[in-house]
Amino acid sequence: MHLIQRFLFVTLAVTVSLALLILHMWSPKFYSVVDIQNQGKPVDLLSSSFVPFRKYPHLSFTLNEDVLKLLPKNSCHCEVEPSLTSSLQKQVFGESLPEQFSKVIPPSEQAEYSRLREEEYQKYRLRTQSLADKLIVAPANFPLEYPVQGVEVRPLQTILVPGLRLEDVGQKVYMVNLIATMGIFNLAAVVENVKVKGAAEMNLFLSSSHLDNLNQQLEFVTYTSVVFHPNTADIVQLKTDDHEASFTIKIRHAPTPKLYDPESSNSDYNISALVTIAIKTFQRYDKLRVLIDSIRRFYPTVTIIIADDSEPREKVEGPYIEQYFMPFGKGWFAGRNLAVSQVTTKYFLWVDDDFIFSPRTKVQKLVDVLEKTTLDLVGGAVRELTGFSTTYRKKISVQSGGIAGDCLNVQQGFYHVIKGFPNCVVTDGVVNFFLARTQKVLQVGFDPRLNRIAHLEFFYDGLGILHVGSCDDVIVDHSSKLKLAWMKNAKEKEYENFRYSDTSVLQVRHKLFYFKNRFQCQRYG
Ligand SMILES: *[C@@H]1O[C@H](CO)[C@@H](O)[C@H](O)[C@H]1NC(C)=O
Repeated sequence: MHLIQRFLFVTLAVTVSLALLILHMWSPKFYSVVDIQNQGKPVDLLSSSFVPFRKYPHLSFTLNEDVLKLLPKNSCHCEVEPSLTSSLQKQVFGESLPEQFSKVIPPSEQAEYSRLREEEYQKYRLRTQSLADKLIVAPANFPLEYPVQGVEVRPLQTILVPGLRLEDVGQKVYMVNLIATMGIFNLAAVVENVKVKGAAEMNLFLSSSHLDNLNQQLEFVTYTSVVFHPNTADIVQLKTDDHEASFTIKIRHAPTPKLYDPESSNSDYNISALVTIAIKTFQRYDKLRVLIDSIRRFYPTVTIIIADDSEPREKVEGPYIEQYFMPFGKGWFAGRNLAVSQVTTKYFLWVDDDFIFSPRTKVQKLVDVLEKTTLDLVGGAVRELTGFSTTYRKKISVQSGGIAGDCLNVQQGFYHVIKGFPNCVVTDGVVNFFLARTQKVLQVGFDPRLNRIAHLEFFYDGLGILHVGSCDDVIVDHSSKLKLAWMKNAKEKEYENFRYSDTSVLQVRHKLFYFKNRFQCQRYG
């Protein structure tokens, strides 16, 4: 009895300590400290200035000024060169004078203000950059094969590292060394006659006197992410005798999809299931009611969301109508933001409260464009009382301007016609009448600090996020604006006073351009 107990105890003790030892050897080590501080220096993705290479001092070359001036210079200005400004254009549009945004800041505060901006900007760049964006150059005549891009691992998960191979260069012993900093290597299978050092570590050595064995072994190399630091990358160093290379493994969660049920699968789009009409209204209930009546003639069951900051308030009743009251005069973009935040359909159609639907307002045509292309937002045309319609297409570009800030350039026009949709083009900004992917617009948002006059600002914020189109065959009517002054009623006059009188509006706008968007100036081309 005693002996058996003792034997059991010893066996148990040995098993437990063996198990602990194995656990210690095989479980990935616990990496508890991750540096996610906003420090260091962001990488320059586009080389910011041209430095003629001086690797070959015995060679002379001639600089091509025409090409050089196309390269990013890190200094920009918004003045149009005199040769480009035709005086006719100046007379017609009167908008060739650039706007300099720093003018809204008192001179005594300018230095501190732009220092603060630079500080915020550098932090933003650190947050948004990944080592996967870093430039990596592969040296010439290389015996190593490895993945140049496209290797990705979920945080704390494991992958096979694809594409590793060594070329025969007539060696006695073939050796490959892999070094990571945010994950460990292991082998999914062991191949005979290959010496392995550093399995389950960040530094793996493989060697063999047979090249085929080594290459077979390389196909079984796995990478396990052990540092939880998503949206970054591990730059893996890969070495063999006298040669060294690097490649990146991206570490990130797969973005979670957010899908909407279309409620019908044929090409007869169910507009009520796919689209919500979003409206911001202010002191114009008469116009709003005309708009809603016109919508109901064509779309009786589409949900209409109204963001309303009027005073006094009037309830707008009716089926499929949601009216959200806001504090008085909260503003244009705040209202857009509120309205869009309540949309539960895949798309929303933006309309102003003084628009009127007609048989030309074919929302399904815009739905068709977004369903069949990669566009995120597509504008229609707004027909004025004069009979002219406008699509307000804008091409927006930004030139890098170094520490002074970047230069914003806005031009009329578009880039190209969309294949299969002869009435539609690709551009950067459109009129106040557009259909958009709800998810994509939520990502950009409407800055509530822009409260009175704002429209293109949304497209500036969306640059690089939104893919924008414009179709001129879907038309909504505009009921006001071109009215002559003596025809306006008291309510309309009050409205205009509120919207256009405040001179601080421009100040707010320019300050946002200067600090938030880090623009120094704007040019209308
Ligand atoms: C269209 O969608 C609406 C709203 O989801 C739904 O009530 C209606 O039954 C759908 N109509 C058809 C024909 O599927």
